[in-house]
This record gives sequence, C-alpha cells and structure tokens, in this order.
Amino acid sequence: MEYPDPEHGTRLVVSPSKVVLGRGAAEEVGDYASTYGRRALLVASEVIFDIHGESIVETLESAGMEVVTYTDVRPDPTVENIEAAFERWQAEDCDVIVTLGGGSSIDTGKGVGILAANGGSIRDYGVDRAGYEGVPTPTPPIVAVNTTAGTGSEATRSVVVTDESTATKFLIVSQNVVPTVAVEDPELTRSLPRSHTAFTGIDALTHAIEAFVSVQSYSVSDDYARSAIRRISDSFTKAWANGDNIEARTEMMIGQLQAGQAFTNASVALVHGMARPLGAQLHVPHGLANALILPYVMEFSAMAAPEKYAEIARLMDAADDDTPDREAADAAADAVLDLCTDVDLASYLDEFGDVPERGDYLAVVGEMAQDAIDSGSPDNNPRKPTRKEIESLYVRIYDDALAPDSPRRS
Ligand SMILES: [Fe+2]
Repeated sequence: MEYPDPEHGTRLVVSPSKVVLGRGAAEEVGDYASTYGRRALLVASEVIFDIHGESIVETLESAGMEVVTYTDVRPDPTVENIEAAFERWQAEDCDVIVTLGGGSSIDTGKGVGILAANGGSIRDYGVDRAGYEGVPTPTPPIVAVNTTAGTGSEATRSVVVTDESTATKFLIVSQNVVPTVAVEDPELTRSLPRSHTAFTGIDALTHAIEAFVSVQSYSVSDDYARSAIRRISDSFTKAWANGDNIEARTEMMIGQLQAGQAFTNASVALVHGMARPLGAQLHVPHGLANALILPYVMEFSAMAAPEKYAEIARLMDAADDDTPDREAADAAADAVLDLCTDVDLASYLDEFGDVPERGDYLAVVGEMAQDAIDSGSPDNNPRKPTRKEIESLYVRIYDDALAPDSPRRS
C-alpha cells in the first residue's frame, strides 16, 4: 500500500534532526551539543563510561560545556535509573542530554527528557496508560552517541523501560522523544565483544525485516528497510568474525540506523511481541530473544506476503529474480537461520540464558502468548496470529532451539 494517498491521509516520518556519521564522529560531539546548551548531562553505563567516557567529556569541555555525569545505566534500564538520572538533571540545572552507549543509555536519556519536559512519573507515559503519542511536550535536546549496531534507538520514537516493581517492561512511543542528534561513529563499536555484536546485529536485522513486512509499511519505510537488510546481511558475519573490520562496522552502523528509521515509521511486529516475554523467561538479551524467534515467525508469516519475503531472500542473496516468490519466500527464513548459525547464536544461550525445563516452560506459554498479544505488536504482522498459533510457535521454538538436545543447540 502506498502512502500518502487520499484514502489514508498523511504519514508522519520521524528521524533525528542531524546524523553525524563516520569514523571520528565522536570527536565532534562537543561541537554539536554546545549549539543546544551549556550544561550537559552525560548518561552512560559504568562499563561504557570507562571505555569512552573520558574522550566524550573532553570533546564536550573543549566546546565550552560543563559536564554532569550519570553512569549507573543498567541493561534494560529501570524506572529507578531514569528517576535517579533525572534527579541529577534537576539538581545540576542541565540543559542538554548526551547519551553514551546503546539502547539502554539512549532510552534512559529519553526518559530523563520526558520527565524534564513533562513532569510526573515515567510509568504514566507507557502506551498502556497514556496511549501512543502520550508524551505531550518534546524533550530537551538529546545528543545520542551510539556505541552499538544496534537498537536504532537514536532514530526512534520508542522507549523501553523495566518496571522492577512488577518485573515487566513497558513501552513509551512518541514523536516527542526522537533524539535531536545521532552520532554514529563505527570506531566506538570496535570494543563490542562478539556476543554483543551478534545480539545487536540480529536485533537490527529483525527491525528491518519486521518493518518491511509490517502491515503499516509503506514506500518510505520500505526504502529504509531494503537498504538495512542488504547492508546488514552483507556485513554482519564480517563484523562478527573480525571486530576491527571497520568497513563492516561502518556498514552495520548505517544498516542499524536505517533499520531504526524503518521500524519507527512502520512498527515492529510478531517477533518483537513474542521476544519480550521470552527474553524475560530466559533472562537473555533482547537480540538473542529475537534471534531465537525470527526464523520461525518468518516461516509462519511468509504465506501472507510472499512477495515481501521473496524480496528479503533476494536482498540477502538467497534467491534470484527467476525464483518464484513462494519458493524465494521460504528461502528467506533459511537465510536468517544460516546467518544465526554463522555467528554462533545458539551457543550464547549457555552463557547468557537460563532455559527452564520443558514442563516449566509449557506452564508459562499461555501467559507469554497473552503478553505478546497485549503488546499490540502482533497486530502489525502480515499473518494475524491467533493465541493458539503463538503458543504453538513458542513450543516449536523450545523443541527446535531451546531444549539442550534440540537441533539448533546440538
Ligand atoms: Fe529490537
């Protein structure tokens, strides 16, 4: 379906105001941030701050800024993270948010911005309470210095926050949280370990594929998605195999940015809907949860949009123009599975995952399916799943990819 058109009206395309891209971009953070204010709140995790913090503080101070730091961002940032960072913001009278890190730091920065501009409690801005576009006033300027490739959060209107009081995650979606400047320096991704190169890379590929097949996709988001799928499938294994391959790191950085631009304008679908509850059960990083689900959901969904899945296969060089769409569509899921095998994703379950016994897993499948449905993301899937179908997918994933003696793990 093409937009904008008279029947469907206009579409809002969001993007950061500026993208600073390429090797050395991180050295220019001060130049950009200082155009928006004098006192920066630098938000990072301790680990990332230890690696890159000094140089970012230096570029900000060289540009005449004063820097206040908050370095306690956790993976899957919590309500408490955001509240504590916001306290620093208020107490120190800051005027620009600079995030250093991947999705967790960026989302913490967005959360600070929401509270700074709107007050109240961050929990109240979740889509379950405030709806989509539930943040009335735009955040102060956010300069997102990205260190992963990646969540694409520097280009999106989404914020994912963990509510520790209920052990659940909630989502905030608003055009008023899109960062002002995205700084994409591939040099910063050199320090990403293989495991996280794998997790963040497959997350980005999932964003691109889900946006491409989403029922909300349209010409503009499709262009971002096509480019992202091509770049990521060409460069993912190269960046994983040799983290110093700066050309591959650069392609991954661009690919994940475009994947972020694709999904923030077309939405994610069933994979992300199922990944949040699965990730919570297995205690695995978000990208690994996606990787476990993506091939199965592609196989399940291909019949509803064979031309789209066939194009994915062609973009991944898994089918050519002469292959009939239905056949090529099946090849797309296989191509993703091969990519996951190439980067050894299944092996990370041992290190990062906590797979329950089959009986314990089956006992929570119904609850996971309900959580997936409640997220709203399955509604964007080309094949609309029933609750029973989602449950069957979860069981299939267990038997094929999670059980210690399953085909994908042995
Ligand atoms: Fe994601």
